[in-house]
Amino acid sequence: MDDRKKETILFVDDEESILDVARQYFERKGYQTLTAGNGVEALKIFENENVDCCFTDINMPEMNGLELAENIRMRDATMPIIVMTGYPSLENTIQTLKNGVVDFLIKPVNLKQMELCMLRVMQQRGLFVENVLLKEEVKSKERLEELNRELLYKVDELNILNKIMGSFTATVSTTDIFKRAVDVVLEITPADRCMFYVINESLGEPFEVASAEKGKQGGKKTIHPDLCSPPSIPVDEQPDDHAALLSRVILEVASDELPLLISENTGVRGLPRELMSVMIVPMKIREKVFGVLAAVICEGGVRFSEKDLYYLSFMAQSAAQSIENLALYENIYENLFATLYAFVNAVEARDLYTRQHSSRVTGISMILGKQLECNGEELDILNFAGHLHDIGKIGIRDDILLKPGQLTSEEFEKIKAHPVIGANILAQLGMWEKERQIIRCHHERFDGTGYPDGLKQEQIPSLARILSVADVYDAMASDRAYRKRMDEELILKIIDEGAGTQFDPKVVAAFKYVYNQGTILRYMESSLAEDAGHCSNNKE
Ligand SMILES: [Fe+2]
Repeated sequence: MDDRKKETILFVDDEESILDVARQYFERKGYQTLTAGNGVEALKIFENENVDCCFTDINMPEMNGLELAENIRMRDATMPIIVMTGYPSLENTIQTLKNGVVDFLIKPVNLKQMELCMLRVMQQRGLFVENVLLKEEVKSKERLEELNRELLYKVDELNILNKIMGSFTATVSTTDIFKRAVDVVLEITPADRCMFYVINESLGEPFEVASAEKGKQGGKKTIHPDLCSPPSIPVDEQPDDHAALLSRVILEVASDELPLLISENTGVRGLPRELMSVMIVPMKIREKVFGVLAAVICEGGVRFSEKDLYYLSFMAQSAAQSIENLALYENIYENLFATLYAFVNAVEARDLYTRQHSSRVTGISMILGKQLECNGEELDILNFAGHLHDIGKIGIRDDILLKPGQLTSEEFEKIKAHPVIGANILAQLGMWEKERQIIRCHHERFDGTGYPDGLKQEQIPSLARILSVADVYDAMASDRAYRKRMDEELILKIIDEGAGTQFDPKVVAAFKYVYNQGTILRYMESSLAEDAGHCSNNKE
């Protein structure tokens, strides 16, 4: 025996006899039954009772079956309504179906037929409801998953932004900041290589101060050598090498002051195809572009997205902020000096022979300065200018700077630009006026035949006259790409003969005095030994 509670069925007909017959039949079968004489009565029942299925006649007073069906449908779209009509027509059929009626029977109907029809529509309803519920469930599951994804995405983003902001907490110098910035970009984006370039009008080309490569960190990737060589180091003297093409785009970004994202490089802006994806953002300090952060993908299927560009921009902003903070809260002069000196080291590192040249020139200048009774301030200036006197060489291409043979006159003209370039770099920073003058004048000659301005005698700042002797001495006393170090006697002779023409005689006299005392040679020996130790320690 089926003890399941059977459905409640509502019969709507204006013919009482039909209602009676139906009620008796279905009650006998164990169903609950309700009856109504027209649509209005039926709706009232719907308001108060739980109806599972409705049989209705079409033609009835007050509200016909079709109106009733429509009203029911508005309350409950899943309610099965079976229409019974004595005059079936196509129009009627269409209309009934439109109103949400699920089936119809043609009068006179037999009771068994009614029951079968009811069972069928109830089953359909069950499936329909189940389907709707399932859909709802899937929908809410999908929504939940989407929310979860959004949440993870936000958490991810927040973590990355935190990572960027936290990158510089332990940095103590601007060079640390550059290094840290490129390292973190490799961690948070799919970049194969990230570079930080300083942009300076005097340099012409962007100057790379820090870079990081995925292959070198995790050993995961090998980067095409051309693509990852910094623009400042020309590849085989090719004018159109990849690095130079990238340099040009970097300069465009710096002058437009707008970030650039080339997600899928198809050769746009003249970039070599080997750079599959590129992004470059300008870095501003006090509203002026100071440098750019650039990242490239050289292999694999991943490309940079807007999100990566957002992270790169955020990184550039954070780095700029940190540099400003360092400058504000620590010592602006020391930090900028450290940065500038890092440039000089980078220039000297390009040439094995000039390694530590600036440092030795400073040491000898200080010895001479003390001998000539310079005061503390003058010695400080000499120290600063000595370290940075050749900083302008950043702007000179390696193929000229490192050329082992004789330079052409055109190449020599380029080399001669370095005192002016160096002075301009400092001028841009708006500081160190006296130091700037010395850097500009360190190749002037006492007789007025030097460069860049052809100044003579007292027109040349006295500290530049000291630096000039130290500079020439170190150049002669150390090995060069094109010759071995010169014989000491010959060096002394050249310096002595240069008194009054190339050099200030007073400085030459001081030089000879300290030289004869052995001070210069002792200094050179200890300095060269220190450098040799430093080189072997760093040998890879
Ligand atoms: Fe120089």
